[in-house]
Amino acid sequence: MRAVSLVVALAVVTVCQAATPQLRFAWKEMDFTWDSPEARENAIKEKRYIPENNLPLGLAHWRNKMFVSVPRWKAGVASTLNYIDLDGPQDQPLKPYPSFKDNFVSDSATELPSNSSLISVFRVYVDACDRLWMVDTGLADILGNGNQVTGPSIVIFDLKTDQLIHRYSCKTGDLKEDSFFANIIVDVTKDTCDDAYAYIPDLGGYGVVVYSLKQDDSWRISHHYFHFEPLAGTYNVSGIEFQWTDGVFALSLSEPREDGYRTMFFHAFSSTKEFCVSTELLRNYNSIDKNEAFHDFKLLGDRGQNTQSAASSYDPKTQVLFYTQVNRDGVACWNTNKPYTIDNNALLFSDPVLYEFPNDLKVDDEGVLWVLVDKLPRFIYRTLDPNIINYSIYSINTTEAIQGTACQ
Ligand SMILES: *[C@@H]1O[C@H](CO)[C@@H](O)[C@H](O)[C@H]1NC(C)=O
Ligand SMILES: *[C@@H]1O[C@H](CO)[C@@H](O)[C@H](O)[C@H]1NC(C)=O
Ligand SMILES: *[C@@H]1O[C@H](CO)[C@@H](O)[C@H](O)[C@H]1NC(C)=O
Ligand SMILES: *[C@@H]1O[C@H](CO)[C@@H](O)[C@H](O)[C@H]1NC(C)=O
Repeated sequence: MRAVSLVVALAVVTVCQAATPQLRFAWKEMDFTWDSPEARENAIKEKRYIPENNLPLGLAHWRNKMFVSVPRWKAGVASTLNYIDLDGPQDQPLKPYPSFKDNFVSDSATELPSNSSLISVFRVYVDACDRLWMVDTGLADILGNGNQVTGPSIVIFDLKTDQLIHRYSCKTGDLKEDSFFANIIVDVTKDTCDDAYAYIPDLGGYGVVVYSLKQDDSWRISHHYFHFEPLAGTYNVSGIEFQWTDGVFALSLSEPREDGYRTMFFHAFSSTKEFCVSTELLRNYNSIDKNEAFHDFKLLGDRGQNTQSAASSYDPKTQVLFYTQVNRDGVACWNTNKPYTIDNNALLFSDPVLYEFPNDLKVDDEGVLWVLVDKLPRFIYRTLDPNIINYSIYSINTTEAIQGTACQ
Protein backbone atom coordinates (compact mmCIF):
# COMPACT_ATOMS: atom_id res chain seq x y z
CA MET A 1 0.00 0.00 0.00
CA ARG A 2 2.75 2.41 0.97
CA ALA A 3 4.69 1.46 -2.12
CA VAL A 4 1.65 2.19 -4.27
CA SER A 5 1.08 5.64 -2.80
CA LEU A 6 4.77 6.40 -3.20
CA VAL A 7 4.51 5.55 -6.89
CA VAL A 8 1.41 7.75 -7.20
CA ALA A 9 3.15 10.57 -5.34
CA LEU A 10 6.17 10.33 -7.65
CA ALA A 11 3.93 10.37 -10.70
CA VAL A 12 2.23 13.53 -9.43
CA VAL A 13 5.59 15.19 -8.80
CA THR A 14 6.73 14.32 -12.33
CA VAL A 15 3.58 15.78 -13.87
CA CYS A 16 3.91 18.95 -11.80
CA GLN A 17 7.42 19.46 -13.14
CA ALA A 18 6.13 20.15 -16.65
CA ALA A 19 7.24 23.77 -16.68
CA THR A 20 5.13 26.58 -18.09
CA PRO A 21 6.55 29.87 -19.32
CA GLN A 22 6.52 32.84 -17.03
CA LEU A 23 4.94 36.08 -18.24
CA ARG A 24 7.72 38.67 -17.97
CA PHE A 25 6.44 41.69 -19.92
CA ALA A 26 3.02 42.68 -21.26
CA TRP A 27 1.69 45.79 -22.94
CA LYS A 28 -1.67 46.96 -24.22
CA GLU A 29 0.10 49.55 -26.34
CA MET A 30 3.75 50.32 -26.89
CA ASP A 31 4.91 53.60 -25.41
CA PHE A 32 8.35 55.14 -25.25
CA THR A 33 10.48 57.12 -22.81
CA TRP A 34 9.82 60.62 -24.18
CA ASP A 35 11.88 63.63 -23.14
CA SER A 36 8.75 65.26 -21.79
CA PRO A 37 4.96 64.81 -21.84
CA GLU A 38 4.84 67.70 -24.34
CA ALA A 39 7.21 65.90 -26.71
CA ARG A 40 4.85 62.92 -26.65
CA GLU A 41 1.76 65.12 -27.19
CA ASN A 42 3.42 66.87 -30.13
CA ALA A 43 4.49 63.59 -31.71
CA ILE A 44 0.90 62.33 -31.49
CA LYS A 45 -0.43 65.60 -32.93
CA GLU A 46 2.04 65.45 -35.82
CA LYS A 47 1.22 61.74 -36.36
CA ARG A 48 4.86 60.83 -35.83
CA TYR A 49 3.65 58.61 -33.02
CA ILE A 50 0.48 56.62 -33.68
CA PRO A 51 0.40 54.32 -30.63
CA GLU A 52 -1.65 51.47 -32.16
CA ASN A 53 0.74 51.22 -35.13
CA ASN A 54 3.67 50.25 -32.90
CA LEU A 55 3.90 46.46 -32.83
CA PRO A 56 6.88 44.70 -31.22
CA LEU A 57 8.45 41.97 -33.34
CA GLY A 58 12.00 40.90 -32.46
CA LEU A 59 13.83 40.40 -29.20
CA ALA A 60 17.33 39.70 -27.87
CA HIS A 61 18.74 39.54 -24.36
CA TRP A 62 22.02 41.12 -23.20
CA ARG A 63 22.73 41.52 -19.50
CA ASN A 64 20.00 43.70 -17.98
CA LYS A 65 18.71 44.77 -21.39
CA MET A 66 15.98 43.10 -23.41
CA PHE A 67 16.03 44.54 -26.92
CA VAL A 68 12.66 44.90 -28.60
CA SER A 69 12.29 45.96 -32.21
CA VAL A 70 9.26 47.75 -33.64
CA PRO A 71 9.32 47.62 -37.46
CA ARG A 72 7.76 50.46 -39.44
CA TRP A 73 4.90 48.30 -40.75
CA LYS A 74 2.65 51.35 -40.63
CA ALA A 75 3.09 55.10 -40.19
CA GLY A 76 3.81 56.62 -36.80
CA VAL A 77 6.40 54.27 -35.31
CA ALA A 78 8.27 56.43 -32.82
CA SER A 79 11.35 54.21 -32.53
CA THR A 80 12.27 51.00 -34.29
CA LEU A 81 15.04 49.74 -31.97
CA ASN A 82 14.56 49.81 -28.23
CA TYR A 83 15.26 48.04 -25.00
CA ILE A 84 13.64 47.53 -21.64
CA ASP A 85 15.22 46.79 -18.28
CA LEU A 86 15.04 43.12 -17.38
CA ASP A 87 14.47 44.00 -13.75
CA GLY A 88 11.99 46.79 -14.58
CA PRO A 89 8.18 46.86 -14.49
CA GLN A 90 6.16 44.47 -16.63
CA ASP A 91 4.63 47.20 -18.81
CA GLN A 92 7.53 49.68 -18.85
CA PRO A 93 7.88 52.04 -21.85
CA LEU A 94 10.52 51.23 -24.46
CA LYS A 95 13.84 53.06 -24.37
CA PRO A 96 15.06 53.90 -27.89
CA TYR A 97 18.52 52.52 -28.71
CA PRO A 98 21.14 53.87 -29.17
CA SER A 99 19.18 57.12 -28.73
CA PHE A 100 15.79 58.67 -29.36
CA LYS A 101 17.31 60.99 -31.95
CA ASP A 102 18.70 58.06 -33.96
CA ASN A 103 15.27 56.42 -34.10
CA PHE A 104 12.84 59.32 -34.35
CA VAL A 105 12.96 59.55 -38.13
CA SER A 106 9.99 60.86 -40.10
CA ASP A 107 8.08 58.35 -42.28
CA SER A 108 8.64 60.67 -45.24
CA ALA A 109 12.39 61.11 -44.68
CA THR A 110 14.37 61.16 -47.91
CA GLU A 111 17.73 60.21 -46.45
CA LEU A 112 19.27 58.65 -43.39
CA PRO A 113 20.04 61.43 -40.88
CA SER A 114 23.23 59.62 -39.81
CA ASN A 115 24.83 56.19 -39.97
CA SER A 116 23.57 55.32 -36.51
CA SER A 117 19.99 56.26 -37.47
CA LEU A 118 17.60 53.39 -37.91
CA ILE A 119 14.56 53.23 -40.15
CA SER A 120 13.05 49.78 -39.66
CA VAL A 121 14.44 46.79 -37.84
CA PHE A 122 12.90 43.31 -37.56
CA ARG A 123 15.01 40.71 -35.74
CA VAL A 124 18.14 41.59 -33.80
CA TYR A 125 21.05 39.41 -32.69
CA VAL A 126 23.52 39.66 -29.81
CA ASP A 127 26.86 38.00 -30.61
CA ALA A 128 29.53 36.47 -28.35
CA CYS A 129 31.55 39.72 -28.52
CA ASP A 130 28.95 41.99 -26.89
CA ARG A 131 27.76 43.43 -30.18
CA LEU A 132 24.22 43.94 -31.44
CA TRP A 133 23.58 43.11 -35.10
CA MET A 134 20.57 43.84 -37.27
CA VAL A 135 19.50 44.60 -40.80
CA ASP A 136 17.96 48.02 -41.19
CA THR A 137 15.58 47.40 -44.10
CA GLY A 138 15.51 51.15 -44.75
CA LEU A 139 11.80 50.91 -45.60
CA ALA A 140 9.21 52.98 -43.70
CA ASP A 141 5.42 52.59 -43.69
CA ILE A 142 5.57 49.15 -45.35
CA LEU A 143 1.82 48.53 -45.48
CA GLY A 144 1.00 52.16 -46.31
CA ASN A 145 2.95 54.38 -48.67
CA GLY A 146 6.14 52.30 -48.53
CA ASN A 147 8.95 54.85 -48.37
CA GLN A 148 12.38 53.31 -49.11
CA VAL A 149 14.46 55.88 -47.23
CA THR A 150 17.68 54.02 -47.91
CA GLY A 151 18.79 50.58 -49.12
CA PRO A 152 19.00 47.66 -46.69
CA SER A 153 22.12 47.67 -44.58
CA ILE A 154 23.77 45.67 -41.82
CA VAL A 155 24.18 47.70 -38.66
CA ILE A 156 26.41 46.73 -35.72
CA PHE A 157 26.52 48.41 -32.31
CA ASP A 158 29.01 47.95 -29.48
CA LEU A 159 26.83 47.06 -26.49
CA LYS A 160 29.52 48.13 -24.02
CA THR A 161 29.74 51.68 -25.35
CA ASP A 162 26.41 51.99 -27.21
CA GLN A 163 28.37 53.28 -30.21
CA LEU A 164 27.88 52.34 -33.84
CA ILE A 165 30.65 49.98 -34.95
CA HIS A 166 29.75 49.75 -38.60
CA ARG A 167 27.04 50.25 -41.15
CA TYR A 168 27.38 48.15 -44.32
CA SER A 169 25.10 48.80 -47.29
CA CYS A 170 24.06 45.63 -49.05
CA LYS A 171 25.40 45.36 -52.58
CA THR A 172 23.20 45.35 -55.65
CA GLY A 173 24.19 41.71 -56.20
CA ASP A 174 22.82 40.80 -52.77
CA LEU A 175 19.35 41.93 -53.76
CA LYS A 176 16.56 40.56 -55.90
CA GLU A 177 13.41 42.41 -56.85
CA ASP A 178 11.39 41.09 -53.88
CA SER A 179 14.22 40.85 -51.37
CA PHE A 180 13.33 41.31 -47.74
CA PHE A 181 15.83 40.94 -44.94
CA ALA A 182 14.04 40.49 -41.62
CA ASN A 183 16.51 38.29 -39.75
CA ILE A 184 20.24 37.93 -39.07
CA ILE A 185 22.42 35.49 -37.15
CA VAL A 186 26.12 35.84 -36.42
CA ASP A 187 28.83 33.18 -36.57
CA VAL A 188 31.68 34.16 -34.25
CA THR A 189 33.37 33.12 -31.01
CA LYS A 190 34.82 35.23 -28.20
CA ASP A 191 38.30 34.56 -29.63
CA THR A 192 37.56 35.54 -33.22
CA CYS A 193 35.60 38.79 -32.85
CA ASP A 194 37.20 40.42 -35.92
CA ASP A 195 36.40 37.41 -38.10
CA ALA A 196 32.61 37.36 -37.73
CA TYR A 197 30.22 36.17 -40.41
CA ALA A 198 26.57 37.19 -40.56
CA TYR A 199 23.94 35.08 -42.34
CA ILE A 200 20.87 36.92 -43.55
CA PRO A 201 17.87 35.05 -44.94
CA ASP A 202 16.04 36.70 -47.83
CA LEU A 203 12.46 35.64 -47.24
CA GLY A 204 11.14 37.44 -50.34
CA GLY A 205 13.97 36.65 -52.77
CA TYR A 206 14.63 33.08 -51.52
CA GLY A 207 18.35 33.26 -50.80
CA VAL A 208 20.84 33.78 -47.99
CA VAL A 209 23.30 36.67 -47.93
CA VAL A 210 26.62 36.09 -46.19
CA TYR A 211 28.56 39.04 -44.80
CA SER A 212 32.18 38.85 -43.65
CA LEU A 213 33.18 41.54 -41.15
CA LYS A 214 36.89 41.05 -41.81
CA GLN A 215 36.54 41.33 -45.58
CA ASP A 216 33.75 43.89 -45.26
CA ASP A 217 32.13 42.12 -48.17
CA SER A 218 28.97 40.14 -48.85
CA TRP A 219 27.77 37.45 -51.26
CA ARG A 220 24.52 35.77 -52.07
CA ILE A 221 23.72 32.05 -51.94
CA SER A 222 20.84 30.45 -53.82
CA HIS A 223 19.26 27.07 -53.30
CA HIS A 224 15.90 25.36 -53.92
CA TYR A 225 15.56 24.75 -50.18
CA PHE A 226 15.32 28.50 -49.55
CA HIS A 227 11.94 28.63 -51.28
CA PHE A 228 8.54 28.20 -49.65
CA GLU A 229 6.45 25.07 -50.09
CA PRO A 230 3.43 25.82 -52.30
CA LEU A 231 1.17 23.64 -50.14
CA ALA A 232 2.32 25.11 -46.83
CA GLY A 233 1.45 28.77 -47.35
CA THR A 234 -1.95 28.72 -45.63
CA TYR A 235 -2.28 30.10 -42.13
CA ASN A 236 -5.17 30.26 -39.69
CA VAL A 237 -4.47 32.27 -36.57
CA SER A 238 -7.26 33.42 -34.26
CA GLY A 239 -9.72 32.54 -37.01
CA ILE A 240 -8.00 34.81 -39.53
CA GLU A 241 -7.03 32.89 -42.63
CA PHE A 242 -4.24 34.18 -44.86
CA GLN A 243 -1.72 33.04 -47.47
CA TRP A 244 1.96 33.86 -47.14
CA THR A 245 4.79 33.07 -49.54
CA ASP A 246 7.67 33.71 -47.12
CA GLY A 247 10.74 31.64 -47.93
CA VAL A 248 13.83 31.06 -45.83
CA PHE A 249 13.42 32.95 -42.55
CA ALA A 250 14.51 30.97 -39.48
CA LEU A 251 18.25 30.31 -39.15
CA SER A 252 20.13 28.88 -36.14
CA LEU A 253 23.69 27.79 -35.53
CA SER A 254 24.96 24.76 -33.65
CA GLU A 255 28.09 25.04 -31.49
CA PRO A 256 31.35 24.87 -33.49
CA ARG A 257 32.50 21.36 -34.50
CA GLU A 258 36.10 20.22 -34.18
CA ASP A 259 36.96 21.82 -37.52
CA GLY A 260 35.61 25.17 -36.27
CA TYR A 261 32.59 25.24 -38.58
CA ARG A 262 29.01 25.00 -37.38
CA THR A 263 25.82 23.48 -38.69
CA MET A 264 23.25 26.03 -39.78
CA PHE A 265 19.68 24.80 -39.34
CA PHE A 266 17.22 26.62 -41.55
CA HIS A 267 13.68 26.62 -42.82
CA ALA A 268 11.32 28.71 -44.88
CA PHE A 269 8.43 30.28 -42.96
CA SER A 270 5.80 28.81 -45.28
CA SER A 271 7.08 25.26 -44.93
CA THR A 272 6.98 22.35 -42.52
CA LYS A 273 10.45 21.03 -43.36
CA GLU A 274 13.82 21.58 -41.71
CA PHE A 275 17.15 21.70 -43.53
CA CYS A 276 20.79 22.15 -42.63
CA VAL A 277 24.10 23.12 -44.19
CA SER A 278 27.64 23.60 -42.93
CA THR A 279 28.89 27.14 -42.42
CA GLU A 280 32.04 26.03 -44.26
CA LEU A 281 30.04 26.09 -47.46
CA LEU A 282 28.44 29.47 -46.67
CA ARG A 283 31.77 31.10 -45.90
CA ASN A 284 33.66 29.68 -48.88
CA TYR A 285 30.85 29.82 -51.41
CA ASN A 286 32.84 31.86 -53.93
CA SER A 287 35.57 29.28 -54.30
CA ILE A 288 33.56 26.06 -54.53
CA ASP A 289 31.84 24.12 -57.29
CA LYS A 290 28.19 25.21 -57.07
CA ASN A 291 26.89 22.02 -58.68
CA GLU A 292 28.58 19.85 -56.12
CA ALA A 293 27.64 22.21 -53.31
CA PHE A 294 23.97 21.66 -54.17
CA HIS A 295 24.09 18.29 -52.43
CA ASP A 296 25.69 19.65 -49.27
CA PHE A 297 22.37 21.19 -48.30
CA LYS A 298 20.50 18.46 -46.41
CA LEU A 299 16.84 17.80 -45.71
CA LEU A 300 16.45 16.83 -42.05
CA GLY A 301 12.78 15.97 -42.22
CA ASP A 302 9.18 17.15 -41.96
CA ARG A 303 7.42 18.24 -38.76
CA GLY A 304 3.92 17.55 -40.08
CA GLN A 305 0.88 19.65 -40.95
CA ASN A 306 0.36 23.12 -39.50
CA THR A 307 3.90 23.42 -38.14
CA GLN A 308 4.90 26.65 -39.93
CA SER A 309 7.50 28.47 -37.88
CA ALA A 310 8.66 32.10 -37.90
CA ALA A 311 11.78 31.72 -35.76
CA SER A 312 14.12 29.14 -34.30
CA SER A 313 16.93 29.19 -31.78
CA TYR A 314 19.47 26.53 -30.85
CA ASP A 315 20.36 25.89 -27.20
CA PRO A 316 23.93 24.57 -26.84
CA LYS A 317 23.22 23.46 -23.27
CA THR A 318 20.51 20.94 -24.20
CA GLN A 319 21.39 20.66 -27.93
CA VAL A 320 17.75 21.35 -28.64
CA LEU A 321 16.36 23.54 -31.41
CA PHE A 322 13.38 25.59 -30.20
CA TYR A 323 10.96 27.13 -32.70
CA THR A 324 7.69 29.05 -32.82
CA GLN A 325 4.44 27.45 -33.96
CA VAL A 326 2.23 30.17 -35.37
CA ASN A 327 -0.61 27.91 -36.54
CA ARG A 328 -0.61 26.09 -33.22
CA ASP A 329 -0.23 29.11 -30.90
CA GLY A 330 2.86 27.84 -29.15
CA VAL A 331 6.45 26.72 -29.13
CA ALA A 332 7.92 23.37 -30.13
CA CYS A 333 11.34 21.75 -30.06
CA TRP A 334 13.57 19.08 -31.55
CA ASN A 335 16.55 17.40 -29.92
CA THR A 336 19.27 17.59 -32.59
CA ASN A 337 20.69 14.20 -31.51
CA LYS A 338 17.51 12.43 -32.62
CA PRO A 339 16.11 11.75 -36.10
CA TYR A 340 13.91 14.57 -37.40
CA THR A 341 10.49 12.91 -37.20
CA ILE A 342 7.03 14.18 -36.26
CA ASP A 343 7.22 12.29 -32.95
CA ASN A 344 10.58 13.78 -32.06
CA ASN A 345 9.22 17.29 -32.56
CA ALA A 346 7.38 18.08 -29.34
CA LEU A 347 4.88 20.90 -28.85
CA LEU A 348 6.02 22.31 -25.49
CA PHE A 349 3.23 24.75 -24.81
CA SER A 350 0.26 25.98 -26.75
CA ASP A 351 -2.66 28.26 -25.94
CA PRO A 352 -4.70 30.35 -28.40
CA VAL A 353 -5.15 33.16 -25.88
CA LEU A 354 -1.70 33.34 -24.29
CA TYR A 355 0.43 32.62 -27.34
CA GLU A 356 -1.46 34.04 -30.31
CA PHE A 357 1.29 34.39 -32.92
CA PRO A 358 4.61 33.76 -31.20
CA ASN A 359 6.71 35.88 -33.52
CA ASP A 360 10.27 35.64 -32.24
CA LEU A 361 12.18 33.51 -29.77
CA LYS A 362 15.77 33.31 -28.58
CA VAL A 363 17.74 31.15 -26.19
CA ASP A 364 20.18 33.38 -24.28
CA ASP A 365 23.62 32.37 -22.99
CA GLU A 366 22.16 31.49 -19.59
CA GLY A 367 19.91 28.77 -20.99
CA VAL A 368 16.70 30.79 -20.84
CA LEU A 369 14.26 30.75 -23.73
CA TRP A 370 12.54 34.08 -24.44
CA VAL A 371 9.37 34.24 -26.54
CA LEU A 372 7.72 37.35 -27.95
CA VAL A 373 3.99 37.06 -28.77
CA ASP A 374 2.37 39.84 -30.81
CA LYS A 375 -0.90 38.80 -32.53
CA LEU A 376 0.55 40.04 -35.85
CA PRO A 377 -2.31 38.80 -38.12
CA ARG A 378 -4.83 41.00 -36.29
CA PHE A 379 -2.47 43.95 -36.74
CA ILE A 380 -2.18 43.33 -40.48
CA TYR A 381 -5.67 42.12 -41.40
CA ARG A 382 -8.08 43.54 -38.81
CA THR A 383 -8.62 46.84 -37.15
CA LEU A 384 -7.25 46.69 -33.68
CA ASP A 385 -9.42 46.32 -30.66
CA PRO A 386 -7.42 47.79 -27.78
CA ASN A 387 -9.46 45.68 -25.37
CA ILE A 388 -8.06 42.52 -26.90
CA ILE A 389 -4.71 43.50 -28.30
CA ASN A 390 -1.72 43.06 -26.10
CA TYR A 391 1.83 42.05 -26.58
CA SER A 392 3.84 39.89 -24.26
CA ILE A 393 7.24 38.37 -23.57
CA TYR A 394 7.58 35.03 -21.77
CA SER A 395 10.62 33.22 -20.42
CA ILE A 396 11.31 29.61 -19.53
CA ASN A 397 14.38 27.63 -18.47
CA THR A 398 15.32 25.41 -21.45
CA THR A 399 16.28 22.41 -19.29
CA GLU A 400 12.98 22.54 -17.45
CA ALA A 401 10.97 23.25 -20.60
CA ILE A 402 11.98 19.97 -22.26
CA GLN A 403 11.70 17.80 -19.16
CA GLY A 404 9.53 14.76 -19.83
CA THR A 405 9.17 15.57 -23.55
CA ALA A 406 10.61 13.99 -26.69
CA CYS A 407 13.26 16.74 -26.68
CA GLN A 408 14.89 15.58 -23.44
C1 LIG B 1 28.60 56.18 -43.10
O1 LIG B 1 29.08 54.92 -43.47
C2 LIG B 1 29.67 54.89 -44.75
C3 LIG B 1 29.98 53.45 -45.10
O2 LIG B 1 30.65 52.81 -44.03
C4 LIG B 1 30.89 55.79 -44.76
O3 LIG B 1 31.45 55.81 -46.05
C5 LIG B 1 30.48 57.18 -44.35
O4 LIG B 1 31.62 58.01 -44.23
C6 LIG B 1 29.73 57.18 -43.05
N1 LIG B 1 29.19 58.49 -42.80
C7 LIG B 1 29.36 59.09 -41.64
C8 LIG B 1 28.73 60.44 -41.52
O5 LIG B 1 29.98 58.61 -40.71
C1 LIG C 1 -9.59 28.52 -38.56
O1 LIG C 1 -9.56 28.35 -37.17
C2 LIG C 1 -10.82 28.56 -36.55
C3 LIG C 1 -10.61 28.41 -35.06
O2 LIG C 1 -9.67 29.33 -34.62
C4 LIG C 1 -11.83 27.55 -37.06
O3 LIG C 1 -13.10 27.82 -36.50
C5 LIG C 1 -11.92 27.63 -38.58
O4 LIG C 1 -12.75 26.60 -39.07
C6 LIG C 1 -10.52 27.51 -39.19
N1 LIG C 1 -10.62 27.71 -40.63
C7 LIG C 1 -10.14 26.84 -41.50
C8 LIG C 1 -10.32 27.17 -42.93
O5 LIG C 1 -9.56 25.80 -41.15
C1 LIG D 1 -4.09 40.01 -22.99
O1 LIG D 1 -5.13 39.53 -23.82
C2 LIG D 1 -5.72 38.34 -23.38
C3 LIG D 1 -6.71 37.93 -24.46
O2 LIG D 1 -7.62 38.93 -24.71
C4 LIG D 1 -6.38 38.56 -22.02
O3 LIG D 1 -6.93 37.35 -21.56
C5 LIG D 1 -5.32 39.03 -21.04
O4 LIG D 1 -5.89 39.34 -19.80
C6 LIG D 1 -4.61 40.28 -21.58
N1 LIG D 1 -3.49 40.60 -20.72
C7 LIG D 1 -3.15 41.83 -20.41
C8 LIG D 1 -1.94 41.99 -19.56
O5 LIG D 1 -3.77 42.80 -20.80
C1 LIG E 1 17.50 25.75 -15.30
O1 LIG E 1 17.06 24.59 -14.65
C2 LIG E 1 18.11 23.70 -14.32
C3 LIG E 1 17.47 22.43 -13.76
O2 LIG E 1 16.46 22.74 -12.86
C4 LIG E 1 19.04 24.39 -13.32
O3 LIG E 1 20.10 23.54 -13.00
C5 LIG E 1 19.56 25.70 -13.94
O4 LIG E 1 20.33 26.42 -12.99
C6 LIG E 1 18.42 26.57 -14.41
N1 LIG E 1 18.95 27.70 -15.15
C7 LIG E 1 18.62 28.97 -14.90
C8 LIG E 1 19.22 30.01 -15.76
O5 LIG E 1 17.82 29.26 -14.02
